[in-house]
Amino acid sequence: MASPAAPRKLFVTTALPYANGPFHVGHIMEYIQADIWVRFQRMQGHQVHFVCADDTHGAPIMLKAAEEGITPEALIARVNESHRADWARYAISFDTTHTTHSPENVELAQSIYRRLRDHSPSLIGRRTIEQFYDPVQGMFLADRYIKGTCPKCGAKDQYGDACEVCGSTYAPTDLIEPYSAITGAKPELRTSEHLFFRLSEPLVVDFLRRWTRETALQPEVFNKIQEWLGDDDADADRELADWDISRDAPYFGIPIPDVPGKYFYVWLDAPIGYLAALKKHFDSGAARSAYPDETRSFDEFVADPDVEQYHFIGKDIVYFHTLFWPAMLRFAERKTPTNVFVHGFITFSGEKMSKSRGTGISPQRYLELGMNPEWLRYYLAAKLNDRVEDLDFNPDDFVARVNSDLVGKYVNIASRAASFLTRYFGGELAAPAARPAWWLTSHDDTARDIRTWLNERQYSRAVRRIMEFADEINRHFDEREPWKLAKDPARRDELHRVVSDCMTGFKMLSVFLAPIIPATARAAAGFLGVDRDFTWADLDVAPTRIGEYRHLVTRIEAKQIDALLAPPEPVAPAPQRPAAAVDAPRGANATPAAPPPAAASAGAAPPATISIEDFAKVELRIARIVNAEHVEGAAKLLKLTLDAGEGRQRTVFAGIKSAYDPATLVGRLTPMVANLAPRTMKFGVSDGMILAASGEGPGIFLLAPDAGAAPGMRVK
Ligand code: 2FM
Ligand code: ZN
Repeated sequence: MASPAAPRKLFVTTALPYANGPFHVGHIMEYIQADIWVRFQRMQGHQVHFVCADDTHGAPIMLKAAEEGITPEALIARVNESHRADWARYAISFDTTHTTHSPENVELAQSIYRRLRDHSPSLIGRRTIEQFYDPVQGMFLADRYIKGTCPKCGAKDQYGDACEVCGSTYAPTDLIEPYSAITGAKPELRTSEHLFFRLSEPLVVDFLRRWTRETALQPEVFNKIQEWLGDDDADADRELADWDISRDAPYFGIPIPDVPGKYFYVWLDAPIGYLAALKKHFDSGAARSAYPDETRSFDEFVADPDVEQYHFIGKDIVYFHTLFWPAMLRFAERKTPTNVFVHGFITFSGEKMSKSRGTGISPQRYLELGMNPEWLRYYLAAKLNDRVEDLDFNPDDFVARVNSDLVGKYVNIASRAASFLTRYFGGELAAPAARPAWWLTSHDDTARDIRTWLNERQYSRAVRRIMEFADEINRHFDEREPWKLAKDPARRDELHRVVSDCMTGFKMLSVFLAPIIPATARAAAGFLGVDRDFTWADLDVAPTRIGEYRHLVTRIEAKQIDALLAPPEPVAPAPQRPAAAVDAPRGANATPAAPPPAAASAGAAPPATISIEDFAKVELRIARIVNAEHVEGAAKLLKLTLDAGEGRQRTVFAGIKSAYDPATLVGRLTPMVANLAPRTMKFGVSDGMILAASGEGPGIFLLAPDAGAAPGMRVK
């Protein structure tokens, strides 16, 4: 199946996550949805620039940092580390990730603001507003930081904008006995001049009506916007409210250039962060190295009417993305988004996920338990569509889909056909011409449908068709009974055809599934003799031989699901002086307030320093990972086969399962401790140790030498 002649040029984003904590599963769902689409487009040969950034500004981040006694910069750096780790672990293939707290974003936000201000008529207005001020904290309070008694029903401790008891909405100034949710202080009403983006200008509404009509929005999104904008005839004079885009110091944000002491409201600079990330992507040379023909600058690229710009977002932020964002771009004389792709929320067995009630699943815990990220990618793909619908994660359904579809149908084909191809034909497939390829006659239709549905984000439909195709192949295998053919030497050709056809079908399935389960598809490609990621064009190339078959996807075990759903362990109270007895410099007069832990008793404390001779005892060498696989029954371990240039291979069990898919490790170089005494474990003897970094947050990170290092080299 050929790709269209002219590759599309795509600029794709997901919503920028707030830099105030680790991802929840809703974030991961959006990343997976977008990543599948992006990988699919890349497989078609299109030029894709897929970027993200942390959304770093605003009062919540400023206050959280203050609470922790650190700077906002330190907080966002720490959170960014955890975000990056999770993007990598879930195989989200962003080309560049950046931050809204960056010079690119400052420059772009300020320049867009200036354009809006200097537009004729000016689209920036000024108005003095009255707002609550916390005299103890010394800052103006957003509605969510004010609490008080509901003016309608008298319920206590309600937020400044709406009552959770009676559902009424009001202004914070309507609250009875308001208090600051930060300090408890009685807030004072103060005045301040704010800047507004004048959406009430009729030309803005006219533009938005036009943009809404001309954009292929999802029907639910279109209808929602109609509610806000009205339609032309009946609501010709409908206005949008002006949008307050300024915040007073102290605020962690981007300064407004001509108004000292004022900052852009975080929601102004957040979507501009999409452009900032793309700018970084171009300025750093990353765009050019991915696409050497793309020699344009960021400014030229982003202004090109042929570049398609798509934003994947959740249904809660449609207002920002379909009103404020296109209007900001349009009136700053920039290109507007081609479309926004909106998804619903993820629920858990029909309920909203809630951290406090302990419902839902943690994407970090999922990985720590050694669960394969590709299971989740597959499951979500099997349920996602192009509508703004909520998606329900159901644990039994999850196990059933992964075990019966991925393992029972897809992988099963490879494992069954491989055993005959290896045993009787030395891994060679029958030449395509000698094969009737019974289903290949219909594969064009199948491939066309799957391609259409993946492009339209109708993943569940595509997955259904892919699994029907797997069913057909398995049925063919069963009907032709190769195990019987194998008993009759006169029927060798027939046997060869059947298993070769099935293996060809397996390759096609792997190509279809590649955007969804990329690491598995990559391993399948290697097994089929393709030493790179699949492209869609690989559908037309029949495999000629296979390598050694290794299991591609393991089954989910019931106990993993139990562990995933178990309530989090209560955090153990910190010992009063846990490290004092161990870490105090020798000779210091440390008197622990609590008895020292057993290991710290006399003589057991490790010395604070070691000599160079001590260090030289550790024989560190570079090793190549020649094989990596899961270990049956081991929650944390992977079994690695290493070549450390010794003319033999070593087996090492490494506790890195939560962080790595084995298929992605094969071929990598890593330092190892080569003279560690072998250790007998439940699963075999481990002969050495590899080195990896880890910190307090999630993630384990293997070390890798620079280019030029080779197996066997000593590390000193
Ligand atoms: O809702 C959120 O999580 C925001 N941080 C999304 C921002 S999307 C874009 F505008 F940056
Ligand atoms: Zn009320």
